[in-house]
Amino acid sequence: MNGFLDYVRSLPKAELHLHIEGTLEPAMLMNLAEKHQVNLPYLTAADVERAYNFEDLQSFLDLYYLGASVLIDEDDFYSLMIRYLERCRDEGIVHTEMMFDPQTHTERGIDFSVFMSGFGRAMEDAKRQWGQSSLLIMCFLRHLPEESAFETLKAAEPFKSQISSVGLDSSELGHPPEKFERVYAAAGQQGYRLVAHAGEEGPPTYIVEALDRLKVERIDHGVRCMEDAELVGRLVKAQIPLTVCPLSNVRLCVFGTMADHPIRHMLKRGLNVTVNSDDPPYFGGYLLDNFQALHRELGLTMEDARQLAINSIRSSFIDEASSAAWLDQLSVPTP
Ligand code: ADE
Ligand code: ZN
Repeated sequence: MNGFLDYVRSLPKAELHLHIEGTLEPAMLMNLAEKHQVNLPYLTAADVERAYNFEDLQSFLDLYYLGASVLIDEDDFYSLMIRYLERCRDEGIVHTEMMFDPQTHTERGIDFSVFMSGFGRAMEDAKRQWGQSSLLIMCFLRHLPEESAFETLKAAEPFKSQISSVGLDSSELGHPPEKFERVYAAAGQQGYRLVAHAGEEGPPTYIVEALDRLKVERIDHGVRCMEDAELVGRLVKAQIPLTVCPLSNVRLCVFGTMADHPIRHMLKRGLNVTVNSDDPPYFGGYLLDNFQALHRELGLTMEDARQLAINSIRSSFIDEASSAAWLDQLSVPTP
């Protein structure tokens, strides 16, 4: 019996920062490697887990792209997605906005139609079977050139009705948001909502650039804003959502330990913070595990958790009626 965890599970929550390729569990990775005869430097799932010992973002990304290489046919993408959506059902995540990395697959010769149809079929099944609400965020890999992002935007056209938003992920340092200013302008014109990773490893100026040049509505991570008081003031005033991922931040050494994580200061300062799991099996836990770690190591209270759930619904891209209904359940008076 865990009162805090049961309480958090019972709160209707949105998860807004989750890479679907980053939900690949070691056991599934090994099964798919065998299915497709992909050569990996691991013999067992335990070897995979042992390798998940990162010193920075790049050391994680190297293994994340290696892992994604076992995703090949439509069924693989279906299985990956349905497992995560089942997890949402079990953790009280009533709505999720999932990032995917098309270039990781198209670069290996896997067509958009393969992954989009696997993802779409799973999202429809989850919607029909238990009412799961979900959206997709298509991310550009920032270590690749602008031209490749434009090609990806073009290749996505036939699947546009399945994609709500555009995002930016992968190696942050050395790849500032301004590199993608033109492709973001084009995506915005096509009606995509805009988000971007910024201020995970990159400096606070990347957050400013993401807001001013990419015109994003939400910042993924954003934790390094705390180094710039003026920026914090701006983020508080505009209530820009920050999709913070505590276990990820600690595993990627953005902060030494969970006790050093600034999330409670961020909440106290009035920042619009949400809690998310990023790449759960790589970082040691799904959404409830993140809440549990914050409770255990930082003294996150039930009232903090309720505020975080409210922030997640408010910061999501779901329709207004659903948002109002979830906020009502969280005892937020409708204005
Ligand atoms: N791709 C998957 N997880 C990521 C993260 N935390 N930062 C940047 N790119 C990512
Ligand atoms: Zn991320």
